[in-house]
Amino acid sequence: MKTYSLLAFLLSTQLIWVSAVFTSEDAQYNETEARMLLNLAAGAYASDATACVQRTFSSNENQMIISQFSVKCDFFGNPCAGYIIVSEVLQQITVVFRGTKTNSQLLLEGWTTLKPSADFYGIGLVNTYFKKGHEKTWDYVASALNHTNYLNYDVYVTGHSLGGALAALAAPRIVHEGLRQSQQVKIITFGEPRVGNLDFSHGYDQLVPYSFRVTHAIDVVPHLPACVKDLSYTPPAGSDGSKPCDPTSTNGGYHHAMEIWYPGNMTQGSQYMVCTGLPRDEDFSCSDAPKVDLNDTTLGVWDHRNYFGVEVPDFGKGGCDPSMTFAGPPTKTGIGALVSSVLGKRK
Ligand SMILES: *[C@@H]1O[C@H](CO)[C@@H](O)[C@H](O)[C@H]1NC(C)=O
Ligand SMILES: *[C@@H]1O[C@H](CO)[C@@H](O)[C@H](O)[C@H]1NC(C)=O
Ligand SMILES: *[C@@H]1O[C@H](CO)[C@@H](O)[C@H](O)[C@H]1NC(C)=O
Ligand SMILES: *[C@@H]1O[C@H](CO)[C@@H](O)[C@H](O)[C@H]1NC(C)=O
Repeated sequence: MKTYSLLAFLLSTQLIWVSAVFTSEDAQYNETEARMLLNLAAGAYASDATACVQRTFSSNENQMIISQFSVKCDFFGNPCAGYIIVSEVLQQITVVFRGTKTNSQLLLEGWTTLKPSADFYGIGLVNTYFKKGHEKTWDYVASALNHTNYLNYDVYVTGHSLGGALAALAAPRIVHEGLRQSQQVKIITFGEPRVGNLDFSHGYDQLVPYSFRVTHAIDVVPHLPACVKDLSYTPPAGSDGSKPCDPTSTNGGYHHAMEIWYPGNMTQGSQYMVCTGLPRDEDFSCSDAPKVDLNDTTLGVWDHRNYFGVEVPDFGKGGCDPSMTFAGPPTKTGIGALVSSVLGKRK
């Protein structure tokens, strides 16, 4: 009897331990997991993420918020913020970064035109704004991951918008600094801008193989800052004239793996594309295919704010209440609508 219960105990702890380790399945995009992480990314917009965390996980996982941070960033005029949760049951840590509070902060700041120019720990060049934000939040991440109780826990990293950019800098650095092995880190971001250049992309893909960059239809932010276009490409007659990114240029922005593109509205059952095509990490059959019209980003901004059928910041501020409803996409277009959608959203 005693032996039996000891065995049962060992088996059960073993099973829990096994379930904590990322496996080869984690190299595949898992939409259920992405929807859970989107809830957490939304929760970062709330002053307290507890409601979103509780609505995302079953209580027996005992997910606890161990850190909520908010530090002044010297750009976007608002804090770089986020929180960290731990499940001792699953032996997992999840690091969540917040995006910008308003569209105006997001699109009207200088980062959209800046080329990557800041060295990121020898991995490649990244956007200086994002690097500064990363450095102001890094200590919170490092001290949670380096805490003696959690040393071997697998790590999820996520965020929407600017939060996605901060996630995409934290994840490779976690591996680069030896805080975790590559196979212990998994990242899923939503509406992430281009954080670095081609060199950074290559280094990132080596360090963080379990990486998914979810993009929604014509969300404008993943197209910023611009990549260098492949000018040798001749758009077919009748196309909108769009050209792919140049996969040899280290000058402009260049995404890391792996885009997951939802061309439709992202409601339950929507189709998505796993963007493994060429050019590598800038698959021209995914969100790069349609020409980006920066003169009319009204719908592109709406697509940026809305993922999986929710207006991400409002959903988070409302505690991820599934009964919340949201306005549909705008019908007005043109520069006037852009200005009112950007400026009218100040909160
Ligand atoms: C996808 O993620 C969910 C939630 O973590 C998990 O329950 C499910 O087993 C995963 N599916 C696969 C195929 O890994
Ligand atoms: C983690 O902790 C160890 C031991 O205290 C220390 O040597 C190391 O520098 C820490 N790593 C980071 C990235 O903080
Ligand atoms: C989402 O798209 C599907 C397929 O095009 C459509 O049937 C559905 O009505 C749309 N849902 C919303 C909320 O727009
Ligand atoms: C945007 O507007 C400028 C100035 O009106 C014009 O020169 C440019 O061609 C427009 N771009 C697109 C993509 O329509």
